[in-house]
Amino acid sequence: MNKKLAIASDHAALDLKKELMKHLDDQGIEYVDYGTYTSDSCNYPDYAEKLCTEIYKGTHDMGILVCGTGIGMSMAANKCKGIRAALCSDTFSARFTRLRNDANVLCMGARTIGAGLACDIMDIFIKTEFEGGRHKTRVDMIMALEDKLSKNS
Ligand code: RB5
Repeated sequence: MNKKLAIASDHAALDLKKELMKHLDDQGIEYVDYGTYTSDSCNYPDYAEKLCTEIYKGTHDMGILVCGTGIGMSMAANKCKGIRAALCSDTFSARFTRLRNDANVLCMGARTIGAGLACDIMDIFIKTEFEGGRHKTRVDMIMALEDKLSKNS
């Protein structure tokens, strides 16, 4: 596993993030934690922006974002340039969003799934490689929407 990994959460998912980081530590997988670091209430878009900015800059290859449902984080992340964020609550989706969509950010909800499943989902996400081929054409089409839609607005 030679991917550079980043992780972030809001207050609602701080405990899940700690479980995920312990799981990464146990496997010797390195990551950078972009916060939040306390249980004080905070705004999840700030943390999505921090992590996604670093992915866009190339500091990291992949990110893990967790909040209460994972929905807010995924919405915020998918507004950021260069990001393909996938909200997953099952391992099949985690595998296929890597194989087919080349997702670079995994979002999960601390209030919707347990830590054990979240760790399995994360393992599959970070270890599965993009298939490329015809799927690259489609991923390129997704990314082209970033410019295409802003021109139409
Ligand atoms: C915070 O209470 C909660 O709204 C947030 O963690 C997340 O679930 C938003 O989508």
